[in-house]
Amino acid sequence: MYKIGLIPGDGIGPEVTREAMKVFGAAAAHAGIQYETVEYDIGGDRYLATGEVLPDSVLEELRGFDAIYLGAIGHPDVKPGILEKGILLKVRFELDLYINLRPVKLYPGVPTPLKDKGPEEIDFIIVRENTEGLYAGIGGFLKRGTRDEVAIQEMINTYKGVERCVRYAYELTQKRNKENTLTLCDKANVLTYAHDLWRRVFDEVGEDYPDIKKEYAFVDATTMWMVKNPEWFDVVVTCNMFGDIITDLGAMIQGGMGVAASGNLNPESVAMFEPIHGSAPRYTGKNQINPIAAIGAAGMMLDHLGHEDAAAKVETSISDLLASGKIKDLGAGRMGYTTEEVGDLIAEGL
Ligand code: IPM
Ligand code: MN
Repeated sequence: MYKIGLIPGDGIGPEVTREAMKVFGAAAAHAGIQYETVEYDIGGDRYLATGEVLPDSVLEELRGFDAIYLGAIGHPDVKPGILEKGILLKVRFELDLYINLRPVKLYPGVPTPLKDKGPEEIDFIIVRENTEGLYAGIGGFLKRGTRDEVAIQEMINTYKGVERCVRYAYELTQKRNKENTLTLCDKANVLTYAHDLWRRVFDEVGEDYPDIKKEYAFVDATTMWMVKNPEWFDVVVTCNMFGDIITDLGAMIQGGMGVAASGNLNPESVAMFEPIHGSAPRYTGKNQINPIAAIGAAGMMLDHLGHEDAAAKVETSISDLLASGKIKDLGAGRMGYTTEEVGDLIAEGL
């Protein structure tokens, strides 16, 4: 019996979470998987009503789940940074979810802005370090608000943090068994301390994986190749900040935010799954948002729980629906179906 924590969150978060859990539930029923959910109302509305962002008691409860599902966080009436740092980043950091796994997969039938590229060419996975780097939140101001102001934001890279991330990426490359190529995306030509550490660890850990081909790409060049030659990538491992940036690009080439799913993992304990998109407040309650990214994240949750067959069925059902051409446009309000209907179609497809 799995225990799953649900954080539907803000804006369209609850709508996509409902469809994701509908499909999760259908897949679980087929596979004989038992689970129960506990839902939390954390997000912008609770913050505005009570001043609470993520109470310690909730954080403690989250540690006890087999998996956590998050819809979306972000509220137009809340200053940027409060909910992002207070909820999303706090859970990632406090639960030590050190891997952010973001597949970039173009499903057949989905338009990509890349000319002459299709599902054959756009199929790789980005492994983003998720607990260190520029996101560590270390820094401060000196003489804030004056012309003498100094603002410092430290980029933290620890041997342990880099090692476990890089090792996970090697393991994933081996397991995926596609091109057996792992690319380190860095800026070692400029960040000659931080990313020197990444290179050394990448090479050192790589000795344990002699069959994996090692590639190196600077982050600026990575963005170029993701557009020009996405087929060059199999698995890409990178630091937190670069991972944030290149996964938005990844989401676009795979057909947009409507399809991009992700998982925040600690391979030794709990994990949190979420679509990459935000809370899209404009579409709240309209039943128009595309739930496919959210459903994809629920599929990743099944995979993480060890139900690879059930996860593969969710992926196939998504893929079949997209290939059928029924959904004319993946954008919110342009699908020709409601959010709920898309969830029904994918659940039925199982
Ligand atoms: C993401 C988001 C978050 C990040 C924000 C909302 C804090 O952009 O999951 O990629 O920067 O990690
Ligand atoms: Mn991002």
